[in-house]
Amino acid sequence: MAPEVVDVRILVTGGTGQLGSAVVARLRAAGEEVRVVSRRAGPDVVRGDLRTGRGIDSAVAGVDAVVHCATDYFGRETQLARTLIEAARWAGTPHLVYVSIVGVDRVPLGYYRAKLETEQLFADSGLPATIQRATQFHGLVRGIIAGAARLPVVPVPRISFQPVDVRDVARRLAELATADPAGRAPDFGGPEILTAAELAEAVGEATGRHRRIVPLKVPGETFRAYAGGGHLAPEHRDGEITFREYLAERADHG
Ligand SMILES: NC(=O)c1ccc[n+]([C@@H]2O[C@H](COP(=O)([O-])OP(=O)(O)OC[C@H]3O[C@@H](n4cnc5c(N)ncnc54)[C@H](OP(=O)(O)O)[C@@H]3O)[C@@H](O)[C@H]2O)c1
Repeated sequence: MAPEVVDVRILVTGGTGQLGSAVVARLRAAGEEVRVVSRRAGPDVVRGDLRTGRGIDSAVAGVDAVVHCATDYFGRETQLARTLIEAARWAGTPHLVYVSIVGVDRVPLGYYRAKLETEQLFADSGLPATIQRATQFHGLVRGIIAGAARLPVVPVPRISFQPVDVRDVARRLAELATADPAGRAPDFGGPEILTAAELAEAVGEATGRHRRIVPLKVPGETFRAYAGGGHLAPEHRDGEITFREYLAERADHG
């Protein structure tokens, strides 16, 4: 006998990723029924691939909303969105919530251009859609800084970041997914804007590795855009968990 299909309310693409798993946890804690789609088999996961379309129709079937956290860093961001939009058209037009990045229209990176184009696909799809841009996640910023912190002297670019915790972004996305479509939602930023030197100092304190930090001016258009704060949202300090709190938690968990 075929297994009974349970009608779930919210599908999270990328629900196995950094942000997506926090969204799933947040929604489930709020009592929502959540389905996760992933290319890999796993517990509580529906198999599906947004690049090929395999399994996506059944993943989208019967949901009221989709939080689209899946992403492709190799130039196929728009393709994943197209697959999702097509599947959604045939599946009762659920509310599509897309996660983007603050500054996709100001920082000239290929990945950012693809995200901007994808925002437009959702906006033009005619489907109920919400686009949420967020600033850089703590994990990404720590990764950038920690890589350099292994050297005897820590070179850091002369730019600032506004890192945000994925759990804070997940809180916003959970609210959006269960509300009416909002179009482009107000940007979501981390609680503090810190220079890369201050962030490197915090990583040094957390790891007990104190190195000399050397701020450097980096040439090029992309760094000029970062130096100009194109990726920051100073008016939106919505996140609550600070970078130091995030680092302390990581240390506590080994
Ligand atoms: N990192 C940041 O600082 C930052 C800041 C603001 C916004 N964002 C945005 O937040 C979103 C989530 O980022 P993240 O860092 O949480 O991503 P991540 O941890 O790298 O996770 C990527 C997810 O995408 C899924 N995926 C990739 N290709 C897929 C495909 N063909 N079909 C189905 N699923 C696919 C993966 O699932 P499986 O491998 O299980 O299939 C995985 O769960 C992205 O849109 C990103 O642009 C990131």
